[in-house]
Amino acid sequence: MTNTFLRLMTAGTLLCLVAGTALAQNKYIGTKMCAPCHRTEKQGKQLDIWKNSKHANAYNTLTTAKANEFAKARGIDKPAAEATECLQCHVVGYGEDAKLAEKTFDYKDGVQCETCHGPGSAYKTLPVMKDHAKSVAAGMTEYKDEAAIEAQCRTCHNEKSPSYKEFDFKKQWEKIKHPVPKG
Ligand code: HEC
Ligand code: HEC
Ligand code: HEC
Ligand code: HEC
Repeated sequence: MTNTFLRLMTAGTLLCLVAGTALAQNKYIGTKMCAPCHRTEKQGKQLDIWKNSKHANAYNTLTTAKANEFAKARGIDKPAAEATECLQCHVVGYGEDAKLAEKTFDYKDGVQCETCHGPGSAYKTLPVMKDHAKSVAAGMTEYKDEAAIEAQCRTCHNEKSPSYKEFDFKKQWEKIKHPVPKG
């Protein structure tokens, strides 16, 4: 009986290790690594659209006096830019997640490409990127429909945000969407 139990335990541990290793392969590489291929007119200028959005500034916002006031009001006794309670929605790849970041990655770039598209170390190459199925298999987040996009936005645009009002998805998506031009 003990032997069977031990064997089961070992099999379980191995499975966990294998799964863990597969996940650990996908690392954050940072917007500057996506930029060279996603900045031209032909590609749809994703870099400019992002840079001009508030997402690119989401970390800097936490360094303002207003941010520290929000933090204080919530009983947080450190600067907002160092508080996990604030960083969780204003950046990606901080704290525990920092283990998943390559040297090129900078969490101070705020809400960046990989926040919404997944860590890019495995899907960033041209042959993978040109193939949707391969990109998804390599860790790129797939959005089945508009409802899935809206659900992703609402993981941050919700009442847990100290400045939350109401999130009008259609209007807000219009402000930041960045499609590849057709034709
Ligand atoms: C070596 C160039 C290159 C790099 C680096 C690159 N991409 Fe791409 N990416 C492309 C090309 C080419 C396409 C295909 C565009 C098209 O549909 O014509 C693409 C497509 C995409 C798509 C749409 C994929 C789909 O199938 O729906 C997303 C999202 C994307 N890239 C995000 C990123 C992100 C995020 C990064 C950085 C982590 C990145 N890319 C890095 C070249 C690149
Ligand atoms: C990881 C958290 C996160 C996710 C996911 C996210 N956002 Fe944001 N968004 C923010 C933060 C934080 C700000 C405020 C940044 C600032 O002001 O410095 C913001 C600001 C914005 C703004 C500017 C709002 C204004 O008042 O001008 C728009 C538009 C926006 N987001 C749209 C979206 C949409 C659409 C999605 C989904 C596709 C989305 N966001 C997903 C965190 C997120
Ligand atoms: C649940 C996600 C979330 C958390 C947690 C969060 N924020 Fe934000 N923050 C947002 C979003 C989204 C916005 C954009 C405006 C909105 O819809 O609330 C934003 C906007 C802001 C702004 C700009 C508001 C304005 O009116 O100019 C400040 C400042 C800010 N956050 C500070 C903080 C601080 C400080 C904390 C921690 C106490 C924090 N945030 C925690 C998501 C979050
Ligand atoms: C707030 C979330 C968010 C951020 C930040 C973001 N994207 Fe996207 N992006 C999306 C969503 C949602 C879509 C539409 C669904 C899809 O095609 O996967 C999309 C679509 C795309 C597409 C495909 C467009 C098409 O027409 O097929 C590319 C390419 C892309 N993003 C690249 C980038 C790059 C590069 C960055 C950073 C400079 C970036 N995105 C930042 C959410 C985001």
